[in-house]
Amino acid sequence: MESKKRILTGDRTTGKLHLGHYVGSLQNRVKLQAQYETFILLADVQALTTHFENPELIGRSIFDVAIDNLSVGLDPERITLVQQSGVSAIAELTVFYSMLVPVNVLRHNPTIKTEARQYGYNDLTYGFLGYPVSQTADITFCNADLVPVGEDQLPHLELSRKIVRRFNDLYGKGNAILHVPEPLLSDTPRLTGLDGGGKMGKSLGNAIYLADDEATVREKVRNAVTDTNRIAVSDKGNPDVCSVSKYHRAFNPGEYDDICEMCRNARIGCVVCKKNLSDKLNALLFPVRDRRKYYEGHTGLIKEYIYEGTRKANGIGLELMAEVKKAMGISLEQAF
Ligand code: TRP
Repeated sequence: MESKKRILTGDRTTGKLHLGHYVGSLQNRVKLQAQYETFILLADVQALTTHFENPELIGRSIFDVAIDNLSVGLDPERITLVQQSGVSAIAELTVFYSMLVPVNVLRHNPTIKTEARQYGYNDLTYGFLGYPVSQTADITFCNADLVPVGEDQLPHLELSRKIVRRFNDLYGKGNAILHVPEPLLSDTPRLTGLDGGGKMGKSLGNAIYLADDEATVREKVRNAVTDTNRIAVSDKGNPDVCSVSKYHRAFNPGEYDDICEMCRNARIGCVVCKKNLSDKLNALLFPVRDRRKYYEGHTGLIKEYIYEGTRKANGIGLELMAEVKKAMGISLEQAF
């Protein structure tokens, strides 16, 4: 039997996951797990690149991100949950790859630039600037074939592919030691925040979390920003400037066109439209909440999955490291 291709993806452990993560990646992961050998990384080291001053948050988020992934339906019997900081091969590869990456290439990475601006950094740390190198280590310690990513991660994957090719050229002696990873691009548009102001973000307070209960979802949707020019129900609305319409498109595609049409002709008001959306979101989250409840009663199990997954990852990483070190000339077997 031909073995399954391997995918690796991950989440930074900087907070609970929200509906933006759901449409952008989690939903897709649930489908992919049937077809691929799936590694999910709890990226706690990458979380440190921006949140090193908040260890409590990072620690709590390892649990939150793990339970969020399990609650959406990733099957612990199928997937491997890995704690990034527990895999020594990732740390080692990060150092080795750093020799192959010019600093200017990192400085010009568009995602690094955008994120640095968002975080308000004007003096980048070595760790933050280099996180795409560390991410290459994430992907290659297990020689992943495919990496499911959103658009913002494409520059990183392009860099990963360059590093891998360079590594193989320099050290492979005609044999590829590392697999060149391919992106599996998610085609869903990024979900905007409920305030209509752009990206949904943990720090922006405009997100619906997978962990939110029914009443919280209703409350957040009720407060969402719609077309601010529409004052009375009899005014015609413009769905193009309404954050709620973006959610209908993502979570209620069957009714989306009708709702927009009715809004433009003032045949549906915001209250009814929002109620409809809350119903859809809560229907989607109902099974997620059920699974979460189960796992909240079995937190020891989650810890065990992460522990075992990380152990398995270390085994895989160690094998690769033996080869990598030999190829780079840093093995005693070679020296004597
Ligand atoms: N940078 C990714 C994000 O912010 C998370 C991540 C860490 C990742 N390591 C990875 C994604 C490896 C894919 C592959 O979402």
